[in-house]
Amino acid sequence: MLTNPATKYRSFPPVELTDRQWPNQTISKPPTWMSTDLRDGNQALFEPMNLERKMRMFRTLCEIGFKEIEVAFPSASQTDFDFVRQLIDGQHIPDDVSIEVLTQAREHLIRRTMESLKGARRAIVHVYNATSKPFRDSVFHMSRGEVVDMAVAAVKLIKQLAAAAPETEWVLEYSPETFTATELDFALEVCDAVTAAWGATPDNKVILNLPTTVEVATPNVYADQIEWMHRHLARRDSVIISLHPHNDRGTAVAAAELALMAGAERVEGCLFGNGERTGNVDLVTLALNLYTQGVAPGLDFSDINAVARTFEDCSQLPIHPRHPYVGDLVFTAFSGSHQDAIKKGFAIDRSDGFWNVPYLPIDPADVGRSYDSVIRVNSQSGKGGIAYLLESECGVVMPRRLQVEFSSVVQQRVDTHGGEMSATAIWQLFADTYLETSAPLRYHEHHLFENGDGQGIRLTVDIDGVAQRLSGVGNGPIDAAVHAFQNVGISVQVRSYEERAMSPSGEGGNARACAFIEVAAASGGAGEFYGAGVDANIITASIEALVNGINRMLASVPDVRQQHAA
Ligand code: KIV
Ligand code: ZN
Repeated sequence: MLTNPATKYRSFPPVELTDRQWPNQTISKPPTWMSTDLRDGNQALFEPMNLERKMRMFRTLCEIGFKEIEVAFPSASQTDFDFVRQLIDGQHIPDDVSIEVLTQAREHLIRRTMESLKGARRAIVHVYNATSKPFRDSVFHMSRGEVVDMAVAAVKLIKQLAAAAPETEWVLEYSPETFTATELDFALEVCDAVTAAWGATPDNKVILNLPTTVEVATPNVYADQIEWMHRHLARRDSVIISLHPHNDRGTAVAAAELALMAGAERVEGCLFGNGERTGNVDLVTLALNLYTQGVAPGLDFSDINAVARTFEDCSQLPIHPRHPYVGDLVFTAFSGSHQDAIKKGFAIDRSDGFWNVPYLPIDPADVGRSYDSVIRVNSQSGKGGIAYLLESECGVVMPRRLQVEFSSVVQQRVDTHGGEMSATAIWQLFADTYLETSAPLRYHEHHLFENGDGQGIRLTVDIDGVAQRLSGVGNGPIDAAVHAFQNVGISVQVRSYEERAMSPSGEGGNARACAFIEVAAASGGAGEFYGAGVDANIITASIEALVNGINRMLASVPDVRQQHAA
């Protein structure tokens, strides 16, 4: 073990700023948000998104309310180039949304990038080169002057190509990559040169994006660096100062907040902190931190679970159960004293309208989460005991969100009936709740058939006691079944799907599969409902899970069905 890190690591030098103003500021309005989920976030995935996933993520970002979205690095990948073309040619970009693309400051890459944007209504061209001393000296072997020349030459070329395509409204963004490790006087010199070369004016501002490409100091140092730039830029009125914090020290959110106090106007980041290494700054946390200070963030996370499931599906990355505002466990109190305080907090009179429930910095309902998930785990079973009993005695491994939800079902049973619950009783309760719902829908059988590129299904189900044959087509059996139900006025979306092999019960037992499906009304907003299915055939288990999920949803929000049947 290294006992003296001072022999290996240098502390970051303070910024010379004796009369700093930012510590006395508060953030009273949201910044301009820029999502780089489809660029910096996408670059950091094991498997970058394909066109279909990129399009789904783009639509979700638009629905959330992002007006600036970095959609691609077109000169770095054909998929990215094609995606920009698909957005423009397919007219998928809402009128009030600007797409942004990234390019290195090199001629052939700039030309290719500009080509990808042909015909765009409005486009932000984001050009960067590295400016810090280690990069200048060791990576690129360039002098300060050569680095400035490179940036200026890139900007002049973009300006020239932009002038040749006047049908597009062009915006320039420049990033001195590795800004936080760059001498401030040099970062200023490059940024001023770029601003002048673009001919920025108060009506045609340049975006200067000052990244913590790698987070190397405490957040107050970033705030000092931003305030220093804010005060020294030659044409401050013609510049938008943008932040692009990475999270190497785990303080990207704090760095962004302090840097906004220091004069920045725009923030780039990703949903749930995805991005290179430890991620880009988490825009969801930043936005909801603002919200809980009474500032409307201009981004809509009122159905945060829907955003989370789309994110997980597109990125193939799970969200940590303790992630601020969205994790499966963040509205769950295990400790008795916390539960007691929360219960009392809910009960108090809030005639002044202000939220003041202990241990809950936000009303879960504001992000579409329910109070039900503030649960108490059965004291006999202990934390996680219910899940453990179901797994060890019955071979069922529940998804984590279902564990949380089912714990409260067990708790209610214990509260009303008293006593301790055996594994058999818990299994029976699980089956009654998630596996054996029988109204209004009861599954009988299904047949699959091929339908061109899709999958068809014929389903026999009872609906309100009357046997009916439904059929639907989709991109798989579950999607086909969802469409079959849609044909009879039951419109749902599948929020999550998991399947598990159940361990056979005892010697000679037959292996079976357990499927878990979480459904929500297609129109959203009414919560999510789990259903489960168990069968030797995984498709049958899945359809049964879907039917059980729908039954639970209709029991809780019956008008979902009426609305769609009408
Ligand atoms: O982190 C970074 O510096 C970047 C730049 C390209 C802006 O992603
Ligand atoms: Zn980055």
